[in-house]
Amino acid sequence: MAGEIGRKTEHWGSRFGFIMASVGSAVGLGNFWRFPYTAGENGGGAFILFYIICVLLIGMPLLMAEYAMGRKSGMSAIEGIQSLARAESRSQNWGIAGWVGSLTSFFILSFYMVISTWLMAFLIQSFGGFEGMDASSSGQNFVDTIGQGEHPMRSRWYMLGLLALFLIANIIVVGRGVKGGIEKVATVLMPAFFIMLLVVVGFSIANGDTAKAVSFIFEPKWEDVGFKTFLAALGQAFFSLSIGVGLMITYGAYLEPDTNIPRSSGLIVASDTLVALIAGFAIFPIVFSAGLDPSSGPSLFFISMPVAFGSIPGGAIMAPVFFGLALFAAFTSSISLMEVAVSWLEERQGVTRLGASIGVGYVLFMIGAAYVFSLDYLDFMDFMTEGLLLPLGGLLASYFAGWVLSREMLTSELGEGTIMNAWRFLIRWFVPPFIFLILVFGFMDKIQDQYHVPLPGFLTMLLGPNWVPPAG
Ligand code: PFF
Repeated sequence: MAGEIGRKTEHWGSRFGFIMASVGSAVGLGNFWRFPYTAGENGGGAFILFYIICVLLIGMPLLMAEYAMGRKSGMSAIEGIQSLARAESRSQNWGIAGWVGSLTSFFILSFYMVISTWLMAFLIQSFGGFEGMDASSSGQNFVDTIGQGEHPMRSRWYMLGLLALFLIANIIVVGRGVKGGIEKVATVLMPAFFIMLLVVVGFSIANGDTAKAVSFIFEPKWEDVGFKTFLAALGQAFFSLSIGVGLMITYGAYLEPDTNIPRSSGLIVASDTLVALIAGFAIFPIVFSAGLDPSSGPSLFFISMPVAFGSIPGGAIMAPVFFGLALFAAFTSSISLMEVAVSWLEERQGVTRLGASIGVGYVLFMIGAAYVFSLDYLDFMDFMTEGLLLPLGGLLASYFAGWVLSREMLTSELGEGTIMNAWRFLIRWFVPPFIFLILVFGFMDKIQDQYHVPLPGFLTMLLGPNWVPPAG
């Protein structure tokens, strides 16, 4: 039955366009907002060290594997993995690896779009300036804006309107296809993003407390390191590189045969990591100089930044640039997330691309309508995807690429020689066991920490007594 599905006929317009679309997917709220505070909270420089190890030794090989599997099969994640399994005479059940990834991408999009909607609201507010806001009025403003405050209905309708706008924009872009939609938007927005980022970083460094920012982000705090630090670094690396969700398999399916996968992957990984490392400098210098708390998670963007901009000369001009660039980054990531489902529906269900985009957008709106206002849902999804589903998707995909597929299968994609040897060694002997260990221990460590569940004795010995039973 599945044999009727053919290879994709559409291709990226150019190598530059493909790179911009991939960087556009990779660079997003994860780099800009999640990375800096996750690093700050999980051991600073120690976290960054693990992060870079995860990116180089796990992220990079997995990214190459995803592109290679995508181009080889010429299909989206689920169908692609099944067709490769068929070609190796292996079980069709390997399609599960594609399913886990694709569902995860849908979950991610369901909270990603909500945060993007907040960004839209704050971009609009920022034109009025945030002057004179203090921490408490800004906190109130955030709560009111997202529909949890005094006039919940008024702001909820407003947020739903913004959500609809955001999804319509996604539908239009994804509906136009990979070359005419996603690639075109990324080649305009990503260069604009980089320029705006440099402007904001320059402004923040010139006006803020840069020394304190450096020490918060980079100084290693070894005492904060535990298994959950590894898991945080691994989950963050997957999230940031957009891997483990089948997305890069799908993007690979549109690759021209002559695009060099290892080289492109290196460029994408390097850009993504660089943005993560410098993004903190757009935020923390002015947050510190305004005397604010650095590690406040989601509120960092929406409570601390308005106060910081409101208290600095020139902040009124910089605030729209800041929220604008964050929105650009979020948008190029959300269209890529939508593409996972749309490209599958298009090839599998025989609907048109536009029809598929409208369908996906509609379902997302319904989920959004139910959850726009629930911070608990966001927290839970964030926890589930990064702490469990992303590493799981990555584990399945890497095991499949390394142990189920033969070396010859991917030689046409990755070449033969040193790179192939190194890649194959890592994807077989390093990536799956490493992810497995971190997933098992890190997940328990995190659960113990977050939900205060005591673990069996031998695990407590291994993981350390994160959870201290209440006295008495
Ligand atoms: N990489 C994006 C970010 O760092 O914000 C988020 C993301 C996009 C995750 C696409 C996963 C994905 F498939």
